[in-house]
Amino acid sequence: MDTQAILENQQKYLWPSHMTLYGQPLPLARGDGMYLYDVEGNRYLDFFGGILTVSVGHCHPKVTEALTRQVQTLVHTSTLYPHENHVDLAEKLAQITPGRLQTSYILNSGTEANETAVMLAKAATGAQEVIALRHGYSGRSALAMSLTGQSAWRIGGTQILGIKHAMNPYCYRCPLKLTYPACGIACAEDIEDLIQTTTSGRVAAFLAEPIQGVGGFVTAPPEYFEIATNIIRRYGGLFICDEVQTGFGRTGKHWFGIQHWDVEPDIMTMAKGIANGSPIGVTIATPEVASKLEGLTISTFGGNPVSCAAALATIQVMEEEASPDHVEEVGTHLRQGLEALGEKYPLIGDVRGMGLMQGVEMVRDRETKEPAGKEIAHLFEATRERGLLIGKGGLYGNALRISPPLVATKDDVDQALEILDYTFAEVQEMV
Ligand SMILES: Cc1ncc(COP(=O)(O)O)c(C=O)c1O
Repeated sequence: MDTQAILENQQKYLWPSHMTLYGQPLPLARGDGMYLYDVEGNRYLDFFGGILTVSVGHCHPKVTEALTRQVQTLVHTSTLYPHENHVDLAEKLAQITPGRLQTSYILNSGTEANETAVMLAKAATGAQEVIALRHGYSGRSALAMSLTGQSAWRIGGTQILGIKHAMNPYCYRCPLKLTYPACGIACAEDIEDLIQTTTSGRVAAFLAEPIQGVGGFVTAPPEYFEIATNIIRRYGGLFICDEVQTGFGRTGKHWFGIQHWDVEPDIMTMAKGIANGSPIGVTIATPEVASKLEGLTISTFGGNPVSCAAALATIQVMEEEASPDHVEEVGTHLRQGLEALGEKYPLIGDVRGMGLMQGVEMVRDRETKEPAGKEIAHLFEATRERGLLIGKGGLYGNALRISPPLVATKDDVDQALEILDYTFAEVQEMV
């Protein structure tokens, strides 16, 4: 099928609500390592990694081999029957996750993982209310959309009651108009007031991403999570850390984003990068917390042996070729390059993030911080034409999300920076 036929069928048979990053959707045909190819055979350097999912490069041979072997042996079990891959993956996750996290529920997506985490927190604490963060993104179910802190992703006004949204630690656009560190991390301290004034005084959980992904890679200051989780625990709640985007070495140095803040979650959710693109989500908890869920649970596709095989192979490849140390080294190179672009182009208002999860917020004017909407749209079309794929996010849709597969090298980063440099030069002229 050529581009036109795919786009015609998309328009005819898929919901118009499917989001696209470009004026015209980009139909893909195949992937190989750091590259994607469209149906016309054009090659793109992938610096979005399938929304931070393709951790070890497209169609990595070791992951493909593990998938093929499992597909030829047994495709489906359901959670009714234990399988070697299922328990092996759970054991591996217990080894690499921080603190006392040990027992997993393996599902199919990040949304399901967050649903399951909140269900568990409510069961474990006996409380019903949950604190989430403004600008956060938790998925697409009714509960996940209610946890989400961006109106664009709370479609149809669906509202699960009992969720309160705290201010997010967005230093570039401080919700309290303060400046770090003189602010005393007032946004975190305000969680206590939020609990005292808008809840019954007992909360089940605080759910937060270490770095807000869809929120535009908003990165909390070093003190934030300790203050926030201390408050939550004083009011009986658990800390659910959503590592769907930040997990599996993405932020460099550690396996999980929250380890940069040295805080231990009671429950952690994961998806995306764990299996290099095979559908999977996981809710891991401490044994004490997990044991509080009374009754029986079942999931038809949960613990799927094929997805678990992909996850085990992906983690092994990360250990061999894309360790958190590698990500830190290449991520630092990327960060330095982006900061250098920031010196050159006033359109760049902020560079933030960690490891290979770097955000660039584009503004029309550094004083007013007016979001550069038209300019980012132009930058997307031009980078695509030059063979580079990147992502975007943020409440105002003006933050670039630069997050290549973790196997990216410094040479890959240099290629991407070169394309960004040309393109920023062109877009800067428009302002
Ligand atoms: C932080 C975070 N949590 C949860 C989700 C939902 O995951 P999924 O799309 O796999 O349901 C996403 C998806 O982007 C996410 O970024």
